[in-house]
Amino acid sequence: MTPKISFEAVSKTFPLKDTEFVALDRVDLDIADREFVTVVGPSGCGKSTLMSMAAGLTEPGGGRILLDGVPVTGPGPERGVIFQQYALFPWLTVRKNVEFGLKLAGLPADERRRRAQHAIDLVGLTDFADALPKMLSGGMKQRCAIARAYAVGPQVLLMDEPFGALDALTRVQLQDQLLDTWSRERRTVMFITHDVDEAVYLANKVVVMAARPGRIHRVVEVDLPYPRTEEIRLSPEFARIRNEVWHAVYHQESAA
Ligand SMILES: Nc1ncnc2c1ncn2[C@@H]1O[C@H](COP(=O)(O)OP(=O)(O)OP(=O)(O)O)[C@@H](O)[C@H]1O
Ligand SMILES: [Mg+2]
Repeated sequence: MTPKISFEAVSKTFPLKDTEFVALDRVDLDIADREFVTVVGPSGCGKSTLMSMAAGLTEPGGGRILLDGVPVTGPGPERGVIFQQYALFPWLTVRKNVEFGLKLAGLPADERRRRAQHAIDLVGLTDFADALPKMLSGGMKQRCAIARAYAVGPQVLLMDEPFGALDALTRVQLQDQLLDTWSRERRTVMFITHDVDEAVYLANKVVVMAARPGRIHRVVEVDLPYPRTEEIRLSPEFARIRNEVWHAVYHQESAA
């Protein structure tokens, strides 16, 4: 079967003084339809760059990225992007923020309203639909950003450390919410995180990257059933996989 997203020998260099900095060096990665892939690796190893290229916001320097077998040439409505900084419009309510992308897509008002309401309910912001962002906590703002991405109904969600700024409890709640939505609506997810526990808890595949040059160091399959529960999080098998990923991230030199 054609992968949903394929990175084929994807490279990226940036000019650095009078030389070139290799941010990514020939990355090969397939993400299957409906897969939940998490990406971890040291700061600066090229995670955001990789995702930005999948989003069509950055051009690869070499190689190519395919979406359903077709080369990516720019952004598209089938890919929803969620950045680490929740970029909400402060003067628009939650509902209007969520409806914004639907308006761009040219949907009629009643359809916008229906879709936005569904996405708002999904992330648990029903009671805050008409609130402005300044009235929301950080976690709620992030849920609003997620609802905005969901509302457009993208087949692929590209998420760059979406829960990075949140406290541990909110984070765990949003993880469960995301998994819940994913299992109900079965989208393909590429999710970047610094948190190894989060990476293992969410994914069926954890991609561990290495830096200088940015590249894929290891891919760890997560053979744990869904739905993921507290019990799974505390299981010996979870601990085993987490340790494996942890080792791959933090002992890259000794492993090499
Ligand atoms: N527009 C740019 N111009 C120059 N260098 C860049 C640019 N974007 C990224 N880089 C460099 O490419 C490397 C990879 O950056 P990237 O943001 O993808 O890393 P990351 O893995 O997402 O890091 P973090 O975990 O800190 O978010 C870094 O060394 C960065 O300095
Ligand atoms: Mg980054």
